[in-house]
Amino acid sequence: MIFTVKRGEGLRGEISVPGDKSISHRSIILASLAEGESTISGLLEGEDCLATIEVFKKMGIDISSKKGVYTVIGNGLQGLKEPNEALDFGNSGTSIRLCAGLLSSQNFSSLLTGDKSLSTRPMRRVVDPLNAMGADLVATDEGTLPINVSPVKSLHAIEYSLPIASAQVKSCLMLAGLFAEGETKITEKTITRDHTERMFMEYGLPIEIKPSGQSRTICVNKASRIYPQDIKVPGDFSSASFFILAALICPDSSIKIKNVGINETRIGFLHALRHMGANIELINLKNTSEATADILVKTSSLKGISLNTALVANMIDEMPAFFVAAALAEGKTIVKDAKELRTKESDRLQAMADSLNAFGIKNELSKDGIVIHGIGSKGTLNSAEIDSYGDHRIAMASAIGSLRSDDAVKILDCVNVNTSFPNFIDVCRQVGIDISNHE
Ligand code: S3P
Repeated sequence: MIFTVKRGEGLRGEISVPGDKSISHRSIILASLAEGESTISGLLEGEDCLATIEVFKKMGIDISSKKGVYTVIGNGLQGLKEPNEALDFGNSGTSIRLCAGLLSSQNFSSLLTGDKSLSTRPMRRVVDPLNAMGADLVATDEGTLPINVSPVKSLHAIEYSLPIASAQVKSCLMLAGLFAEGETKITEKTITRDHTERMFMEYGLPIEIKPSGQSRTICVNKASRIYPQDIKVPGDFSSASFFILAALICPDSSIKIKNVGINETRIGFLHALRHMGANIELINLKNTSEATADILVKTSSLKGISLNTALVANMIDEMPAFFVAAALAEGKTIVKDAKELRTKESDRLQAMADSLNAFGIKNELSKDGIVIHGIGSKGTLNSAEIDSYGDHRIAMASAIGSLRSDDAVKILDCVNVNTSFPNFIDVCRQVGIDISNHE
């Protein structure tokens, strides 16, 4: 699928973005383990979460939807059934890594597979600590998919200090910890998105969080049962980030994005942009388990910054959008300590450097970061043809950057936008972006 995007200005409107991907996956997983009927409203109906739904259906869970509200009839902690075929997680790193933790504790075998991109992504980060808990997982010699999971008698708790800042690894071990003998203790030096912790608490699961300076330890004990809940999934801040960017960089723009999740562990992008001079306001704040707000954004003149490395983990998925903001800021932006970007749906450091090059933006790429020489808010990007490398976030960030090109821009290989933001084009049109898609 190819997107063609024309220059934009005067963006206006009130929009909603689809449900949060991270919270959607977690809600399907925990609802499937609960005893009885949970409902999930606002669930992201993107391909990644649909893949998670299919996986649980293959393990005997009844999941249906009516008018956008999903009903999940959980079978309890011991109620998953052995699937009679491989579990295909499509493009979803979150789903496969979280489910690896859960499946490692089941009394049946499973085979975990995914698409071409997922099949190249690193899995040792979950396989090794799960095996240290007594699980039996075998990946390829390269540490990639497929993963074969064999049943074991029992798992035992471990104390694990996360070697990389990863909410997926943390959540994987938390799920395994629900089935392990003893107290599983996971220490993170950098606090990553805490949706699993919050949802464990909502579900009344045995979890305790012990902060210690900048780091913290999450303690999980074996659970005996899970009671069903009614879950409301807020709009995805990562999806909202593309429209925050659009309104900031297009002249004479002002938009409102309604009901977006603003969990503090997710909004590093907002802090970084404000530091660059962005005019972003949060209104209508609601402090539920997952805080939400409406986001008001207006055209702003941005200035380059040296990005605080402490923010990287909390804006990891917004980095491609941040790089576009940096390209249209005045002066240099320096990003370090971001090598995790190379392990995403594409090598996002390389993919965005290529995108910026095509747009005519000078940049210097290093092993773990990039320096971007911004051209300022009045600058114009080259009209170009950009390869998204099949990565949804590269496609959407480049599409929004195209609004500041002097002529139409083509973005190639955009079909995976459906994994996280299936109605991206409709929402673009709602604020006045001229975008079309064709095969
Ligand atoms: C996610 C965690 C992040 C993020 C991904 C979603 C999650 O991955 O990039 O899109 O829901 O836990 P890592 O934990 O690998 O950084």
